[in-house]
Amino acid sequence: MRSFASENISPDVVAFQFAVRGKIAIISEEIDSAIKKAKAEGKPNPYPFEKVVKCNSGNPQLLNQKPLTFIREITSMVEYPALTEHPELFHADAVARAKEIIKATGCDGTTGAYSPSKGLAYVRQTIAHFLEERDNVPMSPEDIYLTDGASIAIKIVMQLMISHPLHGIMIPNPQYPLYGACIQQLGGKTCHYNLNEDNYWLPDINDIKEQYEKYQNQGIKIKALVVINPGNPCGEVLPIDTIKEIIKFCNEKKICLMADEVYQENIWTDIPFNSFRKVLATMEPEIAHGLELISFHSISKGFYGECGKRGGMFACTNIPEFARLMMYKIISTTLCSNVVGQVVMSIICNLPKEGDPSYPLFKQERDAILGSLKRKAEYLCDIFNKCDGMSCNRAAGAMYLFPRITLPEKFIQECHERHEDPNETYCIEMLKKTGIAVVKGSGFGQRKGTYHFRIALLPPENEIEEVGKRIQVFHNSFMQQYK
Ligand SMILES: Cc1ncc(COP(=O)(O)O)c(C=O)c1O
Repeated sequence: MRSFASENISPDVVAFQFAVRGKIAIISEEIDSAIKKAKAEGKPNPYPFEKVVKCNSGNPQLLNQKPLTFIREITSMVEYPALTEHPELFHADAVARAKEIIKATGCDGTTGAYSPSKGLAYVRQTIAHFLEERDNVPMSPEDIYLTDGASIAIKIVMQLMISHPLHGIMIPNPQYPLYGACIQQLGGKTCHYNLNEDNYWLPDINDIKEQYEKYQNQGIKIKALVVINPGNPCGEVLPIDTIKEIIKFCNEKKICLMADEVYQENIWTDIPFNSFRKVLATMEPEIAHGLELISFHSISKGFYGECGKRGGMFACTNIPEFARLMMYKIISTTLCSNVVGQVVMSIICNLPKEGDPSYPLFKQERDAILGSLKRKAEYLCDIFNKCDGMSCNRAAGAMYLFPRITLPEKFIQECHERHEDPNETYCIEMLKKTGIAVVKGSGFGQRKGTYHFRIALLPPENEIEEVGKRIQVFHNSFMQQYK
């Protein structure tokens, strides 16, 4: 049998699922191609819409969010240094920053050369300074590792901990499916704790404790607990008391806390973002200097949305020297992360300040993006709560809503007879009838017997009313059909 015969492919690879790039994404592409083909051949459009609205992924610029001018001015000059000779084209502070970065790369090729494995020293220093200011806690650049987005950072960290099928990592349920996918790929055990839909999707420390005991009794050795704050897909933002409880729990069990904070700028209510690093530093010394904490950040989210440039990082707190050496070893096998992504990571950690020439435009662009996301979150949440058999918690943060749908028993039965996942079939129906692509709740995990979908708040604001209306009309008529 040849190496790539299906029976020979690693079962861990075959088994893992990644719903955000799953069947819905594939069907969306097929629909878009069919519409284009029909148009090119002068045939009638086979669908009742002009294009698919891709609300299935947190990819802001795909839905025409404009990149921040400050970031793009700097990256253009860093990529093509001759442009620094044309200061009339750029804001003066962007030119100065680009020159600083070009110098920091230490070579004429700027982003064309490999950087040190952990990332350019300049970039790590900038991030360390940002974290110090944000958290009021000292941070060494040596504890920062640059990666091609947070995704790979998460996998690298997990790789260090999983070396046996009974090594488990606790992740929220619902989760961002990267977590389950990584654990499975690495051959470990996914262990869930629950987010409580009846309490704005917040985790409950008693549930975390209960689940931990349950998994331990099954012989699983829990190595880490993951928190996504603000949360994807549910949009919860953790209050300080919950953060403290989770820190105490992880410290007591001597397990690593992985804090995914990629949505830290996306806050929609008066619940502020508090980093785990910051809260940890306020706790008694035994915990503050004991808990092993890894924090993740990325250029993909916030108001920057530079997903395609692939920049991210992880920062270590209280991680012993040997483990950091091993992280270095893993990271060095890829030589270094994408240098443009590193540059952008340094820019999002050092944005224009009041008085800088770029500040007025930067402020205008940032406020427009964040203001629009907040309005869209509120508008869609209201619409969903008006639909027959749909309910939705408001999102306190991140970029998504995760409404619950009560699927009619008759529909569920029919799907089961056809061996289909009712949640997926519902989302496919919605896609085919409305042109709106969302992700099935079962792709993130949900309490048994409940159904949801995740919608990204990313279509332009002038299209959001239409998106809301189309979903409402579709859903109400769907419910009617199965009454
Ligand atoms: C919670 C969460 N963590 C990590 C990532 C990965 O981001 P990146 O683009 O930096 O790899 C995402 C992407 O959507 C996410 O939602």
